[in-house]
Amino acid sequence: MLAATRASIRAPAVAVRCGSTWAQVKMGPPDPILGVTEAFKADTNPNKMNLGVGAYRDDNGKPYVLSCVRKAEKVIMEQGLDKEYLGITGLPAFTSAAAKLAYGDNSAVLAAKRIAVTQSISGTGALRIGGEFLARHYPLAKRIYLPTPSWGNHTPIMRDSGLEVHQYRYFDKQTNGLDIEGMLADIKAAPKGSIILLHACAHNPTGVDPTVEQWKAIRQVVESNGHFAFFDMAYQGFASGDPQKDAFALRHFVEGDSAIAGEGRLCLAQSFAKNIGLYGERVGTFSIVGADADEAKRVESQLKILIRPMYSNPPMHGARIVSTVLSNPDLHKEWRAEVKTMADRIITMRERLFNHLVDDFGSKLHWNHITSQIGMFCFTGLKPEEVERLKSEFAVYLTKDGRISIAGISSHNVEYLAKAIHEVTKNRSA
Ligand SMILES: Cc1ncc(COP(=O)(O)O)c(C=O)c1O
Repeated sequence: MLAATRASIRAPAVAVRCGSTWAQVKMGPPDPILGVTEAFKADTNPNKMNLGVGAYRDDNGKPYVLSCVRKAEKVIMEQGLDKEYLGITGLPAFTSAAAKLAYGDNSAVLAAKRIAVTQSISGTGALRIGGEFLARHYPLAKRIYLPTPSWGNHTPIMRDSGLEVHQYRYFDKQTNGLDIEGMLADIKAAPKGSIILLHACAHNPTGVDPTVEQWKAIRQVVESNGHFAFFDMAYQGFASGDPQKDAFALRHFVEGDSAIAGEGRLCLAQSFAKNIGLYGERVGTFSIVGADADEAKRVESQLKILIRPMYSNPPMHGARIVSTVLSNPDLHKEWRAEVKTMADRIITMRERLFNHLVDDFGSKLHWNHITSQIGMFCFTGLKPEEVERLKSEFAVYLTKDGRISIAGISSHNVEYLAKAIHEVTKNRSA
C-alpha cells in the first residue's frame, strides 16, 4: 500500500495517461530506394526522371504488363477456378515449371527429384526463407558473404534471418568492372563452409557479371573450400534477353561432377517480378539441391515447418500466371520474345546514353561501362555531390551510390539525361 502510494508520487498520474506505449520508438530512416520515388513524386518539374526504382518501363515511361500475362489471365479466368488455399509450398504446377526454367529442362538433379522447392513471396521472400532455413539447419558456420556492393536488402534479410553477414570484394571502382582477383581471394579466405551469396546474372546494383571463364574459377574456389553457394536469380532473361543463357552460372554450379551439388551445398532464390513483370503479384521460389531424393524430402518437410507460422501458404494468382505462361507453348514463346524485347530496349538505351554523352556532348570521361554493364542497372560512377546536383538542377532522381535504372530511360529523355550527366561531370578530371 505504502509502496503504491510512493510510486504514484514519483510518477504523476497525468504522465501515465499521456505517455504512449510507443513514445520510445524512434523515427527510422526512409528506405534508400523507395525514398527516391517519394522525392520524385513530390517534384513538379515536367522533365523529372525517376531512375531509382528497378522496375521496367516501356519507351513512354509507362509500366508494362506483358501480353503473355494478359493472355494467361484470360485463360485462367475462363477456367473458373476456385480460390481455396494452396498447400504450404504453393502450386505444384508452378514450382515444377519454375524449377525447370532455372535448372534446365534436362537437369539431372531435377529428374532425380533431388531439389526441394517451395513457392515464395517473390525473390525477397525466397531469400528470407533461405536465410531462415540456413540459420536453423546449416551445420557449419552461419556466416554469409555478400558481394560489395550488393542489393541493399540482402544485408537486413540475412541479418534478420540470424546469419552473420560478411563481404567479399566484387566491384572495382577504378575500372567500373569486376574485381575478380579480390573476389576469388576473399572467397578463398572465408572460413571453410561459409555461405557465399552470388547474383546469378545482372548483378544489382553494379550491372557487372562474371564471364563464363570467371564463373568457372568462382565455382572452383567455392567448391574447393567447401563453401555453400546461395544463388539469387532475380533477373533471368533480363541480362542477355535469353533465360537459358542467363541461367549459366547456376547450372554450371549444379551440373557435371560438381561436389557442390553432390553434397547439397547450393540453394536458389528465384523471382518472377522482373522477367515476367509480376512485381506486385509477389511470385517466386526457393529451392535447395539435396544429395538424393530422400534428403530433398526431409529438407522440404522443414521448409514447411518454417513457412507455416510465417504466412501459412502463398498467394495463388501470380503462380497460376507463371505456370500458364511457362507450360503453354504459345505463351511461352511469346514470353521469350517479350523478355528479349525488354532486354533489348535496355541495351539500346545504354548505347544511346553513351553516344549522346561522348559524341553529342563531347564528354572526355570514360563511359564504356555504360554499355559493358548488363541488366537493368548501371553503376555510373557518379559521385554523391553529382547525384545531388542531378536531383536539384535537373530533377533526375537516382540512388546516392550513382546507380541508375536503365529501364527508367526512354528515347524521349535519354538526351536530356546525357546532357544533365555531362553538365555535372564536365569539370571533373578524367
Ligand atoms: C538482386 C535482387 N534480388 C532480389 C530482389 C527481390 O525482388 P522481389 O522481391 O521483388 O522479387 C531484387 C529486387 O530488386 C534484386 O534486385
